[in-house]
Amino acid sequence: MAKNYPTVSAEYTTAVEKARRKLRGLIAEKNIAPIILRLAWHGAGTYDYKTKTGGPKGTIRNAEELAHGANAGLDIAVKLLQPIKDQFPIITYADFYQLAGVVAVEITGGPTIPFHPGREDAPVVPVEGRLPDATKGVDHLRNVFNDGMGLTDLDIVTLSGAHTLGRCHKERSGFEGAWTPNPLQFDNTYFTELLSGEKEGLIQLPSDKALLEDPVTRELVELYAKDEDKFFEDYTISHLKLSELGFAEA
Ligand code: HEM
Repeated sequence: MAKNYPTVSAEYTTAVEKARRKLRGLIAEKNIAPIILRLAWHGAGTYDYKTKTGGPKGTIRNAEELAHGANAGLDIAVKLLQPIKDQFPIITYADFYQLAGVVAVEITGGPTIPFHPGREDAPVVPVEGRLPDATKGVDHLRNVFNDGMGLTDLDIVTLSGAHTLGRCHKERSGFEGAWTPNPLQFDNTYFTELLSGEKEGLIQLPSDKALLEDPVTRELVELYAKDEDKFFEDYTISHLKLSELGFAEA
């Protein structure tokens, strides 16, 4: 869908560029790209395109939303980012968290994702239950991504590739372990690992393995495992869409 980006002031643009540099420093210093990317995703993935509710509106910082089961552990990410946010009161939380998500991908060797400022913060926390359940299959992922967020099968696969970063924590999700041997590098090893089968010490969630069972999603997994440039190209577009759900709609 064509976007109608709002114009922001020169002061706002300068603050965004300064915040971007501070975020690069913090995320690199503390090796927190994975949890910051998960925060940006959970902040945006609550969008429901039918009712135009939820989405990247900065609400995830509220205790009520952080208490949603899917968000376990993300209070840590909110706290880590707050000292930088405090330096830029002009920037909305909605923009700030999505900017942090873009920086997390960039700083770990992933593609450069365009960032457009101007999201507004919303007062209302989305209802619980819109984020995906890791124990379920492709039908469920389609319910959440396609019917919920208005994204495509391709977006499901590219965005699942974000599991190239980070790991599962037993005390947060009930699962344990990283998807790849290099969880602080954004590359296509999520897909190569997925195709090469389960290995001692690494994890594949049921929702990851499900991508191999559907012919449409499997073909994309195979493509991205072979062609990292294509993965980066498609991931960039999907991440941009995710970060702008419900924002700047024409
Ligand atoms: C396709 C549906 C998805 C499911 C079912 C899912 C599920 C999960 C689960 C269970 C965890 C482990 C949380 C923990 O224990 O700390 C996790 C972590 C993570 N997810 Fe997803 N996820 C999905 C999609 C995505 C997307 C779209 C992104 C980003 C674009 C993403 C980025 C991440 C990252 C970076 C981590 C690692 C966090 C860390 O290391 O602290 N996930 N995901």
